[in-house]
Amino acid sequence: MINGSKVLDHSIRWAMVGGGKGSQIGYIHRSSAQRDNNFKLVAGAFDINPERGIAFGQELGVDPDRCYPDYQTMFAEEAKREDGIEAVSIATPNGTHYAITKAALEAGLHVVCEKPVCFTYAEAEELVALAKAKNRVVGVTYGYSGHQMIQQARQMIKNGDLGQIRVINMSFAFGAYNVKLEETNPAAKWRFDPAKAGISFAMADVGTHPLYLIEAMIPDMKIRKVLCTKQAFIEGRQLEDNAFTIMDLEGTECVQDGAQVYCWSSSINCGARHGHKVRIVGSKASIEWDDERPNQMSYEIEGEPVRTLERGAGYLYPEARVEDRIGGGHAEGLFEAWSNLYRRFAVAMSGADTSEYGDFWYPSVEAGAQGVKWLEKCVESANNNSVWVDFN
Ligand SMILES: NC(=O)c1ccc[n+]([C@@H]2O[C@H](COP(=O)([O-])OP(=O)(O)OC[C@H]3O[C@@H](n4cnc5c(N)ncnc54)[C@H](O)[C@@H]3O)[C@@H](O)[C@H]2O)c1
Repeated sequence: MINGSKVLDHSIRWAMVGGGKGSQIGYIHRSSAQRDNNFKLVAGAFDINPERGIAFGQELGVDPDRCYPDYQTMFAEEAKREDGIEAVSIATPNGTHYAITKAALEAGLHVVCEKPVCFTYAEAEELVALAKAKNRVVGVTYGYSGHQMIQQARQMIKNGDLGQIRVINMSFAFGAYNVKLEETNPAAKWRFDPAKAGISFAMADVGTHPLYLIEAMIPDMKIRKVLCTKQAFIEGRQLEDNAFTIMDLEGTECVQDGAQVYCWSSSINCGARHGHKVRIVGSKASIEWDDERPNQMSYEIEGEPVRTLERGAGYLYPEARVEDRIGGGHAEGLFEAWSNLYRRFAVAMSGADTSEYGDFWYPSVEAGAQGVKWLEKCVESANNNSVWVDFN
């Protein structure tokens, strides 16, 4: 159970790039990183507009001398201080992630980066190698993976409760962009600009989330090939607002050879809030998880009544109870899931003992690289009349 005690003897001196006032994702980074006192926000370059970023840093209580106009100045100035920053989180638009992550690693910092970590798989491999050479952690905020039921699914699959996996049906299909939001909302504009967003919108923005969930649930999963179709239903969009991907899987201990994964990534699914669901069908049983009801998971054995597993319950695998914060019955949500990930990032950065977890993992730079590779392969398939494309 987590009770707020630090994993290190001190809070990691931590900064943010981006996540400025009015940004979508900045607050959850700050609140989750600092939830268990593992990180303390001491510096930042919070905004593309230096004045706005400096003013916002002060509103957050950061020392005015450590509110910087840009990340380059921050990394240079902080390196001169004895109490300089040790880690940085990057919550800026996609097109900046690679350069900022690279600069942070070169400055000897641990990094938490938003997805996608970069635009190309070649860049991703470079970041993987740099993180290794510098002996630094790069965590990627696939935040939903911090929910306790994801740990439960991972343990159930590992222990053979589902048998061999045959089919995965998953989606992250929401509806907010069924109108041209980018014309009225400035924060939506960069998402359809390939120079700022990369080669994909719907798949990069949301499809990579269920992809990482199944990678976390099934660590030995191996994609053999992918087939993708993508569309921009709203006129004038340069990037897709809807896509379907089928993946063909290799046989492994947990996966039957030829298992099929179906992934719907969409931003035009009228009426849906997130529409983020994963159903895993095995030879013995199926499980299904929905991010809008994250404390529950359906466990369905053929011929028996459907069971609903509940977060915090004594019958879960011990690994799924390590990060319980308030006991079963109370609803935990996305903030707790992110706090769990930030706690794991702190454990990884500190080199602290991971034995309490039994099975310690976190979304790493390798996972980020896998997401970037998946996007490249999906776009390659879609652009070639939706042919099957080898994954490796
Ligand atoms: N993990 C998740 O669940 C999740 C959810 C939403 C967004 N995201 C990702 O988070 C990132 C940010 O998304 P958002 O929705 O918060 O975007 P946003 O446009 O709402 O906010 C971006 C912030 O970054 C600042 N910024 C831009 N360039 C900068 C620079 N060079 N230096 C410093 N600050 C800079 C902007 O001023 C703004 O404050 C994106 O990569 C997005 O894909 C992840």
